Amino acid sequence: MKQIIFKPELHKYSTCGEFIQDFSLGKGDLIIASESSYKNYFAKYVTDADVFYPRNYGSGEPTDQMVEALYADIEKTGPHKRIIAIGGGTVLDIAKLFALRDMHPVTDLFDRKIPLIKDKKLILIPTTCGTGSEVTNISILAFIQRGSKMGLADEQLFADYAVLIPELLENLPFHFFATSSIDALIHAVESALSPKATPYTKLFSYKAIEMILKGYQKIVENGKESLKLYIEDILIASNYAGLAFGTAGCAAVHATSYPLSGTFHVAHGEANYAMFTGVLKNYAKKKTDGALNELNLFISNLLNCDTADVNEEIENLLNHILPKKSLSEYGATEEIIKKWSESVIKNQTRLLSNNFVPLTQEEIYIIYKELL
Ligand SMILES: [Fe+2]
Repeated sequence: MKQIIFKPELHKYSTCGEFIQDFSLGKGDLIIASESSYKNYFAKYVTDADVFYPRNYGSGEPTDQMVEALYADIEKTGPHKRIIAIGGGTVLDIAKLFALRDMHPVTDLFDRKIPLIKDKKLILIPTTCGTGSEVTNISILAFIQRGSKMGLADEQLFADYAVLIPELLENLPFHFFATSSIDALIHAVESALSPKATPYTKLFSYKAIEMILKGYQKIVENGKESLKLYIEDILIASNYAGLAFGTAGCAAVHATSYPLSGTFHVAHGEANYAMFTGVLKNYAKKKTDGALNELNLFISNLLNCDTADVNEEIENLLNHILPKKSLSEYGATEEIIKKWSESVIKNQTRLLSNNFVPLTQEEIYIIYKELL
């Protein structure tokens, strides 16, 4: 059984200047970046690289159309030896595709009609503290024509270098911190409960849970403006969670959140939070021993509460960071959640196979119903 994948070489720098010097950015580099991060921290030090901002090609979550439009422009530049991505999950997921020798048309790539061969070095630098994308081999795109999200997971999508630079997160707006760090917490929890969890992935899952929950407690105690003091810890925690779920996988919380984010354009981390404790409560109805017991005991110590109150206390804490909304507040109805339950069972088998306990369509419907 696979224990853990340590794929990219991991680097951490206090400042962007140190990274730029160490990696000698310049000619032959293709930089795919969030515009504000690039302009504020990189532009004045880097010359001769080709720079593209995916946000100029579409807003919201990454789509096939966005990637095709970007591809058409990038094709006119180069050749490139390295791809350097600086941004949130969207930017990193898109950049992974550009490290491949052939990636067009992107629908064929995701349908596996094009062989995946990586022929450029890939350097991934996150500017949020959530996705862990810098250490995973997954790229997720929404396909407009098909009306659904697809994930491409392959060895060839691993970065050569994952680089953490806390300076890039010093001005992260609180809302982005909230949604991205809650996503990281859920990566850690889902991977801790996965049947694919190992002592190695759990080491990272449990440490990430501890760092994120302690970070939240300090922010609640000292106010939102104190975020700067804890952001480096949360960035490292999100990376730990990425290492854990890169091997052990995510599960029902992610699977059930996809229709919510797709239907009502809810940010990934926020949609995950809407589903989070609802899924955990329903796991507990079926089975409480083993990994769930172990997790509840660990969290009850961190939150100083009884194991029976863990879900309630997690929500009490997380609601200070991002208030939880009911599914009907987003616009969901009885009819909509019925369709969602069908679609989850049909389209999210990859994630559902990592559930703590198997869930039927009826049980998924009940999860939605309780959260309506
Ligand atoms: Fe996620």
